[in-house]
Amino acid sequence: MSNLLGEPWRPKAKPGREIEAVVFDAYGTLLDVHSAVMRHAGRLGAVAADFSAEWRAKQLEYSWVRSLTGPTKHRDFWICTVDALRFVCERYGVGDEALVSDLLDAYRFLDAFPEVPAMLRALRARDVPAAVLSNGASMMLADAFGHAGIATLLDALLSVEAVGVFKPDRRVYALAEQRLGLPASKMMFVSANAWDSQAAHAAGFRCIRVNRNNAPDEYGLKDTGVPSLTDLSSLPGLLA
Ligand code: LAC
Repeated sequence: MSNLLGEPWRPKAKPGREIEAVVFDAYGTLLDVHSAVMRHAGRLGAVAADFSAEWRAKQLEYSWVRSLTGPTKHRDFWICTVDALRFVCERYGVGDEALVSDLLDAYRFLDAFPEVPAMLRALRARDVPAAVLSNGASMMLADAFGHAGIATLLDALLSVEAVGVFKPDRRVYALAEQRLGLPASKMMFVSANAWDSQAAHAAGFRCIRVNRNNAPDEYGLKDTGVPSLTDLSSLPGLLA
């Protein structure tokens, strides 16, 4: 693994291939963001699933509002995650400090979706480099992918902190081109987040959307030719 410190990547990419590397979104795509609340679901009771969805929505809202407001308001994704958790805890009236602390620990060490390790091993067996481009702060990415046991299957973990703004800002997608040394058109960007997919597509990446819950199409992704998968298990075969 490389690039946590920003040094140039030397991809094992095979020039001449249509797709020379795969770039994954992290949260919701490789990592199950709802696994944090699910680990403590018994302490939240019937509201657990709604609580988790609102935590995620508020976390993203904070990232977007901070990006749009400008650099003086930028805080890393961990701060957005903590602030969002405190908001939903207050809203649901469930915020004892022990639960907050346990939920944050769980979020720091999220589970990967079940098919992800085998899918990454299959990419490696085909010599297709795999990177992550995420809103997550570097320490979040290192901890979560280390915990999930897949850090060694990823060739680079790229955090938006290198540019100090969140996705879907264009500069984040340009970071992947700079750090991986490949044009967007030679990389497949894979995300479960429609807003992320449309931005990567606009930046020139080939895109695949993971739509695990059969959500309605957004941003006209279907019309722009972005295929949709229900999980990631078939991805390596699609790149052959
Ligand atoms: C990521 C979040 C936004 O960038 O899914 O990993």
